[in-house]
Amino acid sequence: MTERRKLIAGNWKMNGLKADGLDLASDLAGRLKGAGPVVFDMLVCPPFPLLFPVGEAIADSPLALGAQDCAPKTSGAHTGDVAPTMLTDAGCRYVILGHSERRADHGESDSVVNAKAVAAHRAGLIAIICVGETEAQRDAGQADAVVAGQLAGSIPAGASAANTVIAYEPVWAIGTGKTATPDDVKAMHAHIRAQLEGRIADANKVRILYGGSVKPSNAAELMAVDNVDGALVGGAALKADDFWAIGTSCR
Ligand code: PGA
Repeated sequence: MTERRKLIAGNWKMNGLKADGLDLASDLAGRLKGAGPVVFDMLVCPPFPLLFPVGEAIADSPLALGAQDCAPKTSGAHTGDVAPTMLTDAGCRYVILGHSERRADHGESDSVVNAKAVAAHRAGLIAIICVGETEAQRDAGQADAVVAGQLAGSIPAGASAANTVIAYEPVWAIGTGKTATPDDVKAMHAHIRAQLEGRIADANKVRILYGGSVKPSNAAELMAVDNVDGALVGGAALKADDFWAIGTSCR
């Protein structure tokens, strides 16, 4: 079996001011430094204004920094947008793209996500491309087809295990306390892996994260599922104890 190092990613969403972000990131960076060798990579994705201060605070630690979105363009007259190179300048290595909240709140289509991933890759960022079905789509038996379509539309040419991570986040499990069952997660992650074959040369090395109400009490079970290579965590990523517990649940 291919060894894929787990990635535990915290999506802070639109939460916290500078002092909160610095506290949380410094706490996690300190735990990572003190822990010695661990079996997971840990990543925090703060809101844009916190990227520079948090990046500076964790610069000498193994804690990685990411953003929650980027523009598909490199610079210029695009009011309110943030270019991928601005993210690397702040110390980011990762960027979350196509989160269901962006797809819903900002009408981001697969082709927009694809263009953003191209721009992110060009800047040297690792794109965490999010996919996932709604509850209605799952109930209608369309989950596999919906996710396959999102993958086909969102993953750009040139994607590889080095520059792309996939996050499977069933929309109905995000922020709801509901999680997909380990059996459903196993089936969907196997389906995603199969979709990546043929699309990405080293598909078996691509990390596939699960997201949607991951918390300390369910993390060990979910992280042990085949083809689950880490977690994208929202609510539980805002508490250092909880987020750390999710990391250390990885075996
Ligand atoms: P949640 O969010 O952990 O709060 O469900 C996950 C996500 O949206 O990435």
